[in-house]
Amino acid sequence: MNLKNKKILLIVGGGISAYKSLDLIRLLQRKSCSIKVILTKTGKKFVTSLSISSLSKSRVFEDTFGEKNNGKMDHIALSRWADAILVLPSTANFISKLSRGSADDLATTVILASDKETFLVPAMNVRMWEHKATQKNLNTLFNYGYKFIGPQDGEMACGEYGKGKMSSPRQIISYLENFFKQKDYFKKKNIRATVTTGPTREYIDPVRYISNESSGKQGYEIALELSRLGVKTTLISGPTNINYSNEIKVKKIVSGKQMFNEIKKTLPTDIAVCTAAVSDFKPLMKNKQKLKKKVNLDKIQLEQNPDILEFLGKNNRNKPKLLVGFSAETENIIKNSIEKMHEKHCDIIVANDVSSKETGFNVDFNEVTIIENNGEIQKIKKSSKKFIAAIIAKKIINSFLDIKKRLN
Ligand code: C5P
Repeated sequence: MNLKNKKILLIVGGGISAYKSLDLIRLLQRKSCSIKVILTKTGKKFVTSLSISSLSKSRVFEDTFGEKNNGKMDHIALSRWADAILVLPSTANFISKLSRGSADDLATTVILASDKETFLVPAMNVRMWEHKATQKNLNTLFNYGYKFIGPQDGEMACGEYGKGKMSSPRQIISYLENFFKQKDYFKKKNIRATVTTGPTREYIDPVRYISNESSGKQGYEIALELSRLGVKTTLISGPTNINYSNEIKVKKIVSGKQMFNEIKKTLPTDIAVCTAAVSDFKPLMKNKQKLKKKVNLDKIQLEQNPDILEFLGKNNRNKPKLLVGFSAETENIIKNSIEKMHEKHCDIIVANDVSSKETGFNVDFNEVTIIENNGEIQKIKKSSKKFIAAIIAKKIINSFLDIKKRLN
């Protein structure tokens, strides 16, 4: 019953599978959802406003500036009313418009004005789906945080076969139920995660420091995704250029020692994800004055920073229920990462090859292998850090639920 009382704003787009929206409305009603429907101009060519209003038992919204609106701003009211927006079918044209940020009709305006969970249910011919322009637009929307249900492989209305067939109303319901079930569970149980990210700076004197190239993007995206999945997330971040969203709580720190102190304050936590590139070494002391060029270099003595991940893994009293580490390597990546996972008592380690200039540090792309201590290994080929974060977050959620099940 996880859809019970959820307010769903259904946008019916202009494709042959629009007729399935009628079935979906009935299924959503059986799950006790409240439904409001926007019918697009092209959607109207496939289903009538009368069929929808008869089934949904409410007025169908069509125009941004309709006479029936009585001066009310429907696009704002609808976007605030909804718990989730569902676009069915999401055509290649609709996807293209959304990716450009168009707001030339009620449907696109509502989505642009909304910060609610938006699910796109694509349906189109296989060539249209595979076209580079569509794939680029999908990627843009994915990076904006939209979720996709399908498409499926199968025979299409045009007679061709391939990817592009719309998910069935039952598949859509099952996706939504699962999504809200997990989200509600994590919220209700107040499950908390702490994510570390970015580099640290270890000051030698007031102007010089030891640091590294980490941009903090991968950890930030994971924190954002965990939070969107209902986990109360705190991000502890070293200095980065990220414009943090206010969806998550961010604690900004500078040095490894400060990061260590902040993470200790968040204990006990349910989930900890250490993506930070904490500097391994730090000066024994920071000089109050700027060191002169001709300083005796023996004056700059280094010591090890505390290893936060290892501290968490070996902390018998306060070990997070799920501990995830990252492993940046340039050779023997899998072997070295598995060793690290065992050494630091992690449940999952995400290995990435930082020898390539195109992925890893300070770029928007990554290529990683997720290694679990149950022996499962999943390689994710070069993708945006946002995409990789979504896969890692899903894995974290599922592993956490498995652990909870085992403990109960
Ligand atoms: O041993 P190595 O530094 O390669 O391990 C990397 C993992 O350990 C990452 O998850 C990183 O965030 C974490 N780490 C840490 N504190 C340190 C060094 C690394 O949490 N001082």
